[in-house]
Amino acid sequence: MLDITQIRPHFPALARLQHGRPIVFFDGPAGTQVTQSCIDGIVEYFTRSNANTHGQFMTSHETDAIIVAAHEWMADMLNAQHREEVYFGANMTSLTFALSRSLGQTLQAGDEIILTKLDHDANYSPWHLMAQDKGVTVHTVDVNEVDCTLNLDDFEKHLSHKTKLVAIGCASNAVGTVNPLKQIIGMAKAVGALTFLDAVHYAPHAPIDVQDLGCDFLGCSTYKFFAPHMGVIYGRKALLESLPAYKVRPADNALPSKFETGTQNHEHMAGLNGTMTYLEWLGQTYPAEVSGNFRSARAKTLHQALQSIQDYEADLSRHMLAGLSKIRGCKVYGITDPARIHQRTPTFGIRLDGENPHATAKRLGEAGICVWSGNYYALNLTERLGIEESGGMVRVGFAHYNTHAEIDRFLQTL
Ligand SMILES: Cc1ncc(COP(=O)(O)O)c(C=O)c1O
Repeated sequence: MLDITQIRPHFPALARLQHGRPIVFFDGPAGTQVTQSCIDGIVEYFTRSNANTHGQFMTSHETDAIIVAAHEWMADMLNAQHREEVYFGANMTSLTFALSRSLGQTLQAGDEIILTKLDHDANYSPWHLMAQDKGVTVHTVDVNEVDCTLNLDDFEKHLSHKTKLVAIGCASNAVGTVNPLKQIIGMAKAVGALTFLDAVHYAPHAPIDVQDLGCDFLGCSTYKFFAPHMGVIYGRKALLESLPAYKVRPADNALPSKFETGTQNHEHMAGLNGTMTYLEWLGQTYPAEVSGNFRSARAKTLHQALQSIQDYEADLSRHMLAGLSKIRGCKVYGITDPARIHQRTPTFGIRLDGENPHATAKRLGEAGICVWSGNYYALNLTERLGIEESGGMVRVGFAHYNTHAEIDRFLQTL
């Protein structure tokens, strides 16, 4: 188990005080705090190596090396077969819009795609708008209201040989539900459909192995796992090679630059590389058991780190659920059975009887506890649950730097 006293000093923001007390950061699903190694990476880049790419001089060479290293780290984290299968951009939303346009070129009227009501809108609207442009039919999988899981019968009902794409979240950013990914990918593959996974919410909470999952594409955002604001897409090499890209003329067709339009955020890649050295340290110090066919020893270490994080966070989740169950008038959306802890991330959508979620979030914020309220772009879900008009939910999301004591303080304040 992680020793939290060893973890927290890596995150300087955790020392921040409000009214003399440490701030409680339960806002991780909207973006986590970053490591000192991330901050150092950015400072070092601007202090020493700031340049554009592919020049004939030292700082440009250093920049090129930082970019290659960032791709290599991400390939390790996702256990992609090739470094070129990973590309960067401003954020997951922009990258998904661009990918949807590329994929749309391969679709025609009469084709079908499957989306879900559990997803963040970044894994809904890009595909939906592309479908409108191309005359493609959209099916949206319903959720089981009782525990906010996907309705797999509904999914199966929509699946057919006409299905060309299944776009699905790894986990809900609103209520934490983890989807049965292998089962869904297997079903999609059986009808010849491509799969796109939104791993933005899931990535800071568990190891991801794209080869083991067998997905075709996966999107995530580095600012959700202790690094700066960037988006990342993984795509299977053969697919990325064959897809058309919207790009400027001199840019070549080599991967990954084919899909990396314009100048990238070099300083944030330097920061990401710094974060990754922290995760590598975590995996070396707390090597949880993992299995898999890893592309490198370092990939295995990163997966051990994320597995340790998942184990630690399961413990936080149990503590939270036990505490919430004792608060009268508190409704918890999503999975509440402690025996099903591995089907959820430590992200909780809650509401208090008689208090608007925005008011609850404000009250907590004034007490130095950072949480979100509303729909956090999981609009399909808050509408499906009938709570959009009345303020959605309060979202309380943990990261592995959070503690039992912080949860107790939160429960007390709530
Ligand atoms: C599950 C999920 N998908 C997609 C996104 C959008 O990511 P980005 O901000 O990188 O566009 C978010 C952001 O909160 C998210 O939580």
